[in-house]
Amino acid sequence: MSELKVLSVASEIFPLVKTGGLADVAGALPAAVAREGVEMRTLVPGYPAVIAKLADASTTRDYADLFGGPARVLAGKAAGLDLFAIDAPHLFDRPGNPYLGPDGLDWPDNARRFAALGRVGADIGLGAIDAFRPQVVHAHDWQAALAPAYLHYADGPRPGTAITIHNIAFQGHFPASIFAELGLPAGALTIDGIEYFGGVGYLKAGLLLSDRITTVSPTYAREIMTPESGMALDGLLRTRAAAVQGIVNGIDDTVWNPATDAALAQNYSALRIDMRVRNKSALQTRMGLAGGVNRPLFSVVSRLSDQKGLDLLLEALPGLIAKGGQLALLGSGDRALEEGFTAAAAARPDSVGCVIGYDEKLAHLFQAGADFIVVPSRFEPCGLTQLCALRYGAVPIVARVGGLADTVIDANQAATAAGVATGIQFYPPSAEALAYGLDRALEIGRDPAMSRRLKLNGMRSDVSWRGPAQRYAALYRALARPAE
Ligand code: ADP
Ligand code: GLC
Repeated sequence: MSELKVLSVASEIFPLVKTGGLADVAGALPAAVAREGVEMRTLVPGYPAVIAKLADASTTRDYADLFGGPARVLAGKAAGLDLFAIDAPHLFDRPGNPYLGPDGLDWPDNARRFAALGRVGADIGLGAIDAFRPQVVHAHDWQAALAPAYLHYADGPRPGTAITIHNIAFQGHFPASIFAELGLPAGALTIDGIEYFGGVGYLKAGLLLSDRITTVSPTYAREIMTPESGMALDGLLRTRAAAVQGIVNGIDDTVWNPATDAALAQNYSALRIDMRVRNKSALQTRMGLAGGVNRPLFSVVSRLSDQKGLDLLLEALPGLIAKGGQLALLGSGDRALEEGFTAAAAARPDSVGCVIGYDEKLAHLFQAGADFIVVPSRFEPCGLTQLCALRYGAVPIVARVGGLADTVIDANQAATAAGVATGIQFYPPSAEALAYGLDRALEIGRDPAMSRRLKLNGMRSDVSWRGPAQRYAALYRALARPAE
């Protein structure tokens, strides 16, 4: 197999800059597809956290004016990743969250910042950097979506293009006034181009103008073609149905390995699953939860947003506590949810513990210590926390939507009899259905043999990048230009 060159374009990448699962995927994909004969480099904005870590960087391309100031493209390694970073201080030299200013609102120039990401991605696709001429450009989400759009409108030969939807809720919709700055042909401001509801739509353009579209699970691929879940892009996606494919994410099994994980109180494996309980005990102590290791421990590691459905858990929580359950929550986001869980912990500190914040290391202890991980999302393109839970032997309780439906096998009679169940699904995403799912979990918790079987099935299921990497590599080979 020859080495196929692919440029991945992403606005965040683990471990340098992360707000969610997109960063995990962008960070893990290059090593995963390398095993399939794909040489992937990733183009990212030169945020301070990226520039600071870039070792032995060389300048590969200068821009006299990239959306309002000079810029250069640096090439180098950071945290083991082969990166191109856009060093454009006027756009990216800002600390903290990559999208939001200190006031918690979107940076007012996000249209320019991420047009720059797309522009540079397209330029590299067109051969701007001699040492790396990609045959495929793979853009992630709206922030990178102009790369395939610029490539579509470029003259002469261009690489193949793919775009991955990690979350269709975020679309990059801006006023039409930005169009004049984008440097696209005048004809691009139409419904067949970048125009979207009278403004410009970055994701819309990427979906229309990429050769292929992927999203992060087959079920989400189907859901986003319906008016209920397509967030106004379902019609467009239906017209492109033949180009749409769902590829479930993996998790990095070196980052997530209970046998070697330094963040745990006790390392363990499927063969030594009994030792896992020491992590439960450590987690209960850390969260101030009382009653010992026989109390069923439910946990959550999540952004606190409407998508994640945690208001439903807040509603079901008194019932869960009344039946002896405990909750440990790690999360941040929506103020009302933060306050809701904080109040619940204050009212019943023996039964509810919460850490409001973002803590990568603690997330690992949560996965290793909990009996159950609750993911009551209203929609979930893929979801990674349930994959981590499976690998760590925490039984996922999930709403049967998107990637949650595709990755957890409900412990119904048939699956239990066949010995393949890995968790609990409930539907619809409502407090009542969740409460029923929690009741089923409590029942399973009273059956040690059954609990153990579910945990072991999860730990033995393949949540690695191997399968997904093969699917991405096949996609890249089908798209490569010039062909191999
Ligand atoms: P999303 O990207 O929609 O937030 P995912 O489940 O795909 O959801 O990915 C979330 C990622 O962020 C996972 O790696 C999860 O462990 C991590 N995460 C979310 N919230 C926290 C938190 N408060 N502390 C640590 N890690 C978190
Ligand atoms: C998005 C989705 C999440 C998915 C992640 C990585 O953040 O909300 O479901 O797992 O992207 O693809």
